[in-house]
Amino acid sequence: MSELAPVKRLYIKTYGCQMNVYDSERMADMLAPLGYGVALRPEDADLVVLNTCHIREKATEKVYSELGQIRLMKLARQAEGGTMTIAVAGCVAQAEGEEILRRQPAVDLVVGPQSYHQLPELIARAHRARGERLAADFAPEEKFDALIAERRPTGVSAFLTVQEGCDKFCTFCVVPYTRGGEWSRPAGDIEAEARTLAEKGVREVTLLGQNVNAYDGANDTGSGLAGLVRRLARIPGLDRIRYTTSHPRDMDEALIAAHAEVEALMPYLHLPVQSGSDRVLKAMNRAHTAESYVRLIETIRAARPDMAISGDFIVGFPGETEADFEATLQLVREVGYAGAFSFKYSRRPGTPASALPGQLADEVKDERLARLNALLEIQRIAFNSAQVGRTLPVLFEKPGRHPGQIIGRSPYLQSVHVAAPDRLIGEIVPVRIESAASNSLAGTLTLETV
Ligand code: SAH
Ligand code: SF4
Ligand code: F3S
Repeated sequence: MSELAPVKRLYIKTYGCQMNVYDSERMADMLAPLGYGVALRPEDADLVVLNTCHIREKATEKVYSELGQIRLMKLARQAEGGTMTIAVAGCVAQAEGEEILRRQPAVDLVVGPQSYHQLPELIARAHRARGERLAADFAPEEKFDALIAERRPTGVSAFLTVQEGCDKFCTFCVVPYTRGGEWSRPAGDIEAEARTLAEKGVREVTLLGQNVNAYDGANDTGSGLAGLVRRLARIPGLDRIRYTTSHPRDMDEALIAAHAEVEALMPYLHLPVQSGSDRVLKAMNRAHTAESYVRLIETIRAARPDMAISGDFIVGFPGETEADFEATLQLVREVGYAGAFSFKYSRRPGTPASALPGQLADEVKDERLARLNALLEIQRIAFNSAQVGRTLPVLFEKPGRHPGQIIGRSPYLQSVHVAAPDRLIGEIVPVRIESAASNSLAGTLTLETV
């Protein structure tokens, strides 16, 4: 298949979460046997796919402005007598469907996250410029069955989707509407994919799910994500396992125990809390309190003392007072984060929170976001600085920007820059950390490696 010279060129632009990154790779894998090779720029492509995100208003609007640009490329191509097919995939496709075709008629087809297996057919139909242009149904099993098993990983670290969808219905969030209900892939299928990846040189997998720790696929090593992790940890060559994103509600004892016992499971946990105010957490329908979250972190750290914690925060949720926001800062001080993502609340049409009274002015959100970010930045620098002088196992992933330099990741997901030969890419090597910046570490090889 791959020996055939590509006759058509594909450009995929990915927005949003890692789930979309994974889906984009699978779409490219699926289209390759149809003769689609990679285009580096959209203007060179015969097929442009925007894999979109609906999570915040800005993310959605970006898609429409990008589509405006791509429309001009399509017109230029047509003026030269050629064609370009434009596809919108992902969560905006699911949420807005036909509205996209109305707002941007240059779009040829819209395909929701559960319908990628229909892409070849939809493309063929678009080429005939007739028939149904919309596919946005939920049936995740069909999708995974239809996507070809053959993966072409491009590096030593790969994403692997194990769970999709969300039943939590946080009142601010569109994901339960765009990705449907919680659904877990069978463990056997996941193991087969992980083995293929390992055989192709992948040393680290990140298991993906909107609520990955709600994974409940049947398993011979116990149910739940912990069972899956233990099963994957047995695969030769797969030395590192990570997972994201988790919900505090689904962080069970078995998973915490796995962190204490499974060497391949990395000591880094992304566990969004959103707010430190119980009043706000209740209005968000998060089903945990600030205290239960802090206790949970304590339990996790008792099992794995060096666990790095990261989180997501929303500032300016409707009705959030200064005291509520203070409670968030207080929670951050108590937990001590290695990293975090913080967002201004964005009002999403159709979600319960969008109809709440007490929507806050943008200036209030801006000011709170800046204060939260300042605190999180101090914590990130402190976490990175604490590694200086330690020797950490680093999985080298790629060449650095400077000649003679390569870049890898620490167990805590920090980027580590080291002067070392390229042949170490794909290896896990002890590195002495010499200095820390806010986004990366620099280190040197220890004597044994040199
Ligand atoms: N399933 C994950 C992540 C979902 S989306 C979880 O439960 O944590 C990633 C992050 O986007 C969320 O954690 C939240 O912090 C943020 N987010 C979701 N909806 C948002 C909205 N309407 N406005 C601002 N941020 C939002
Ligand atoms: Fe959205 Fe909440 Fe589900 Fe996460 S748990 S995807 S924030 S509804
Ligand atoms: Fe965005 Fe959809 Fe992911 S809304 S964050 S791309 S699940």
